[in-house]
Amino acid sequence: MTKPELGEPVAILVPGHFNEHAIGRIDQAFQRVTIEQADPALVTEEMRRTVRGIASFGGINAALMDALPNLEIIANFGVGYDSVDASHAAQSGIMVTNTPDVLTEEVADTAIGLLINTVREMYTAEKWLRDGSWVKNGAYRLSRLTLRGRSVGIFGMGRIGLAIARRLEAFGLPVAYHNRRQVEGLAYQYHPTLKGLAEAVDTLISVAPGGTSTEKAVNTEILSALGPNGVFVNIGRGSTVDEAALAAALASGTIAAAGLDVFADEPNVPQALLAAPNTSLLPHVGSASEHTRRGMADLCVDNLVSWFAERRPLTPVSETVQVKPRS
Ligand code: NAP
Ligand code: 8YV
Repeated sequence: MTKPELGEPVAILVPGHFNEHAIGRIDQAFQRVTIEQADPALVTEEMRRTVRGIASFGGINAALMDALPNLEIIANFGVGYDSVDASHAAQSGIMVTNTPDVLTEEVADTAIGLLINTVREMYTAEKWLRDGSWVKNGAYRLSRLTLRGRSVGIFGMGRIGLAIARRLEAFGLPVAYHNRRQVEGLAYQYHPTLKGLAEAVDTLISVAPGGTSTEKAVNTEILSALGPNGVFVNIGRGSTVDEAALAAALASGTIAAAGLDVFADEPNVPQALLAAPNTSLLPHVGSASEHTRRGMADLCVDNLVSWFAERRPLTPVSETVQVKPRS
């Protein structure tokens, strides 16, 4: 997208650390102002007067929006925007945008990698080779679990859920799913409840968004329904899981193993999950390749450019689609 014809430079607030490519693009088209973190106490009088946009990796709450009376748009760097108070933004006439599609295939690849690592113990097998155990002690143990014969349930059959399902089909595994609404024209078995899905499969992949409607949805009841051969993979949001219940289920054999890319209180991972021998843990790297983060950075900034140059967003979130630009 080309540089917008904006007249005087528009001030865009960037709280905390941010993607370098996005920063370069913001600096070309706007006047970037920074604060250490998204804290309304750090907003200066000048920012109150001038800031019209925010570009952000992390949470933007109602208090920060209220501290910026001229704020028109929040461009979220990520498809998940549960950390942005989008309802408050809508009520305040503030547009919120996110970065769908450009990361879908990367995150689906990561989900499949995490599933295989969890089931076939790739990381511990590689450690066995690197630490000399192969030479000293012989072959790595046979993995107790396999992908063969599994049936997979997807919690959140949206863009990424579908990309994961297509990959699983190529692996020869049956797929079912749970959403609040059945997806029209999709042949995979639909379950109107998450419990029904967990009862029907032995492998559950969560790629549902965070927020109140999914808070701790994966709990003791769901994990018990998954059963002792059960594998749980979470590539969506940590808040959708009761982590204490998950750690207990892993310790008691209620389920067999878990692969997690996301956690409720990142970057803090509960000790019980770190210590469990049947977990595979990643530091929220679902979309974290240079290629994909660049695509996300471009879409994040393109939303700002389009908003200020053409008065329309490219990828608005559902809560703010009705928000109109201020004259
Ligand atoms: P999407 O296309 O909007 O898909 C989300 C799906 O979840 C929809 O099919 C939706 O269907 C379903 N859903 C939403 N709320 C639900 C609820 N309460 N109960 C059951 N199903 C529910 O989004 P996407 O692009 O696939 O991204 C999904 C999520 O992945 C993001 O929100 C983000 O949290 C996560 N993510 C993680 C990473 C990572 O690095 N690990 C990277 C990218 C995205 P209904 O509306 O019909 O319920
Ligand atoms: C990013 C993500 O790591 O898009 C999302 O929802 O979780 C990831 O792609 C994150 O948004 C970076 O802020």
